Amino acid sequence: MSETQPTYSELKTEIIAHRLDLKEIEAREHEKARRPWRIYDSTLLTDPEIGERKDFSFQACFASLLPKEVDGRPIENIRQYIEETLSSRNGQALGIEFGGPARQLFDGFTQGFFQKTEGVVLKDIKPRSDYEPNGGRQHKILEGDFFDIKIQREIGKWFDGEQVDLIFEKMEGGLDYLPYDFRLTMHQFSRMYAMLREGGLMFVQLPPPHHRVAGEYLGDIINDWVEGIHANYPDVLELVVHQNLLRLNKLPGAPDVLPKINLPRMQDTK
Ligand SMILES: C[S@@+](CC[C@H](N)C(=O)[O-])C[C@H]1O[C@@H](n2cnc3c(N)ncnc32)[C@H](O)[C@@H]1O
Repeated sequence: MSETQPTYSELKTEIIAHRLDLKEIEAREHEKARRPWRIYDSTLLTDPEIGERKDFSFQACFASLLPKEVDGRPIENIRQYIEETLSSRNGQALGIEFGGPARQLFDGFTQGFFQKTEGVVLKDIKPRSDYEPNGGRQHKILEGDFFDIKIQREIGKWFDGEQVDLIFEKMEGGLDYLPYDFRLTMHQFSRMYAMLREGGLMFVQLPPPHHRVAGEYLGDIINDWVEGIHANYPDVLELVVHQNLLRLNKLPGAPDVLPKINLPRMQDTK
C-alpha cells in the first residue's frame, strides 16, 4: 500500500475545475437560505424530547461505529466514548466539524472538556449573534468552502496551527455538494487526517456505498482500503467502517500521511 496521497499540484487542475463549480454550489446554498436544511446544527446526543421526530443527532448517525465496551467499561453513547478516548486532553481538547456550524454539537459535551471548537459551513443559515458556547469554550463558525485553500488556511489559524483532537464530518444532504471527482473528496479526507493529533479521533460520513466512482462502487473501493489498513497498520490505526460511515483513531505511531485509497482512473465521474 503506497503511503502517499496526490499532492495539491497534482490535483490543481481538478481543484480549479471544482472551484468553477462553486457558482452552482453557491446558488444552491442561497436557495437553502430561503428553504433551510432540514438537518442543521444537529445535537450530539438524542434529544430526550424527540417524540415522533426522526433522530438526526451525531449519536444516531455514528452509533454503529462505537465499541460496546472499552477496557471492560460499557460504552453508552458517543459522548462517553469520545471523552474517555480523549481523556488526557480534558480541558484542552480542540474539535472541528466540517460541513456544519457545530453549536449544538459541541455544547453537548461536558462543559470545559473542549477549549476551542470550530464549525465550517458554506453559509450559516441560522445566524445567532447571541450564541454563547458552554463552559467558556471558544467557538468559531467559519463560512466558506472547505475545499478552498484560503478557507483551509483560516481553519488552521483558529487553532494557532495546532493539530486537533476530534474531527466530524456529517453533511447528510450536503454530501451532494461534494465535487464530482471523488479524488478531491479523498484529498480533503487526507487533509483532515493530517490535522488530527496523535491519539485523536475522526468520524466521517461518506457518500453511500452504491455511489459509483469511475464505474466502480464506492463501497468496494472503501472495503479494499479498509482491508489494507487492517493488514498493514493493525496497531496504529483503528478504523471501523459501517456502510458509508467511518471512525478512525490515530494511535501512537500512526503514519503522518493517510495511507492511500486506490481510486480508479477518473474518466466519467459525474
Ligand atoms: C444538511 S446540512 C448538515 C449540517 C450538520 N452537519 C448537521 O448534521 O446538522 C449540510 C451542510 O453542509 C455544508 N457544506 C456542504 N458543502 C460544503 C463545503 N464544501 N464547505 C463547507 N460546508 C459545506 C452546508 O453549508 C450545510 O451547512
